[in-house]
Amino acid sequence: MTQLVMPNDTNYLGNLMGGNLMKWMDIVGAMCAMRHTETSVVTASVDNISFSSPIHLGEITTLTACITRVFNTSLEVYVEVYAEDVQAGTKRRCNDAYLTFVSLDAANKKPSPTTPIVPETEMEQERYDAALRRRQLRLILGGRMKPEEADDLAALFNRSS
Ligand SMILES: CC(C)(COP(=O)(O)OP(=O)(O)OC[C@H]1O[C@@H](n2cnc3c(N)ncnc32)[C@H](O)[C@@H]1OP(=O)(O)O)[C@@H](O)C(=O)NCCC(=O)NCCS
Repeated sequence: MTQLVMPNDTNYLGNLMGGNLMKWMDIVGAMCAMRHTETSVVTASVDNISFSSPIHLGEITTLTACITRVFNTSLEVYVEVYAEDVQAGTKRRCNDAYLTFVSLDAANKKPSPTTPIVPETEMEQERYDAALRRRQLRLILGGRMKPEEADDLAALFNRSS
């Protein structure tokens, strides 16, 4: 998804407002999820977003999204953001985030199971494996899982080496 940063997207310093970028990240993530599930989706959670590099008025913002793992009714989407200064001929990576969407069935608008994905590349496999730990962390933070139930997350901290 590509957006030109216009005056009404910015704060008074002339940089893209964080809230507008979060909205675009939510939209690109939702479109990615919808294309996979072929249903309506809702955003269940957004993991940490850090704003390390401001995006300026007049720059072109490109957002990419891909599914990292499907659980049951929910799926994790990885979004990356790039900013391009066309006059300087530069493009930089600005931030990224993991978002979780839930697929809803058409009739009742209730969570409905969706098709799994199969990772193919090494990078896809790494993100797929780590998605389980990220899920456990966000479910704990969301009050939906007890820390003692988070086996994969615990294994990360309890390594002997
Ligand atoms: C997200 C929502 C659909 C979950 O509904 P629910 O009745 O609690 O349903 P369930 O308990 O069956 O959970 C459904 C899925 O959501 C996941 N989920 C719920 N809360 C979550 C959270 N905070 N983070 C990540 N996943 C979450 C569950 O793990 C489950 O996934 P799974 O089936 O893959 O295991 C519901 O809370 C909701 O509608 N929230 C509002 C969404 C919204 O308005 N978003 C912003 C605008 S789009």
